[in-house]
This record gives sequence, structure tokens and C-alpha cells, in this order.
Amino acid sequence: MRSARNKILTAFAGVAVLVGAGGLAYEKFDFRHRMRAHAGAISGGSPARGEARFISYGCGGCHAMKHIPHAVGGVGPKLDGVALQAMIAGRLSNNPDNMRLWIRAPQSVSPGTAMPNLGVTERDARDISAFLYSRPD
Ligand code: HEC
Repeated sequence: MRSARNKILTAFAGVAVLVGAGGLAYEKFDFRHRMRAHAGAISGGSPARGEARFISYGCGGCHAMKHIPHAVGGVGPKLDGVALQAMIAGRLSNNPDNMRLWIRAPQSVSPGTAMPNLGVTERDARDISAFLYSRPD
């Protein structure tokens, strides 16, 4: 009797854990989904195109970023979570206009910084910003 009850309790606990884990996974997925939509909306750019541009400009040669091919550089800071930072490069408050400015002209913002001006176009800077803002962690 007692052991049957224990089995039932164990089964309930198992189901509760599974439901909890599923809920967390969904919440994470949902958060990412909303973050992507939000990033596109605030920056006016396309996160998907920005990701491709990020790779083609070789940003990852200096900046590490999770799940991005070749983004293993250690010259600049890791860019995961840059969306949630207060400042950009310790100089500019973090908003879409300043992010575009930094990406296009870091040497004007911070003369002598190790990040070079890379000739990034306005549209590409917009899309790369959207991509960066879509990466919360
Ligand atoms: C040659 C190395 C190099 C390349 C290439 C490079 N960066 Fe940087 N980046 C840096 C360094 C170094 C810093 C830190 C600058 C500072 O704090 O003065 C930086 C800072 C940043 C920051 C601010 C990060 C923070 O935590 O505040 C962003 C955003 C950024 N880079 C984006 C990019 C993007 C996008 C590209 C490609 C278009 C790129 N970088 C290419 C070296 C590089």
C-alpha cells in the first residue's frame, strides 16, 4: 500500500519536473523570439542579415560570440549580452543610434582604440546592431 502510494508520488514528482523544465525551455525560446522582434523594431534593422554581415566583416576575429562561426577573437570584449549593457566601449550610452555610430566610426568616438574603422555601411551597421540587440546572453 505504502509503496504504491510512493510510486504514485514519485510519478507525480517526475511529471512536475518535466512540466517545469518544458515551461522553462519554452520561456527561454519565447524570450529569444521576443528579443529578436524587439531588436529589429528598435534598431530598424534585420537581425538575420546583420548576423551574416557580422561574419563577413570579420568582427569575430576580434570579438567572441557564442554560436557564431569564427567568432573566437580575444582582442575586443565578448559581445554576448552587449544588448543589456549600459555603455558601449565605456564611452557612449547604449542605444541604437550610438551602436551604429560605434560600429561605423569607433576611431571618431574613441581615437586610438584598437577597433579600426572597417568601412561599414549605414545599412550594414543598422542590421548588425539589430543582430547584436537580439543576443541577450
Ligand atoms: C581589430 C579588432 C576588432 C575588430 C575587427 C572589431 N572590433 Fe569591435 N572592438 C574592438 C576593441 C578592442 C573594442 C574595445 C574598444 C574600447 O573599449 O575602446 C571593441 C568594442 C566593440 C563594441 C563595444 C563592446 C562593449 O562591450 O562595450 C562593439 C559593440 C563592437 N566592438 C562591435 C564590433 C563589430 C560589429 C565589428 C565588426 C563590424 C567589430 N567590432 C570589429 C576590436 C575590434
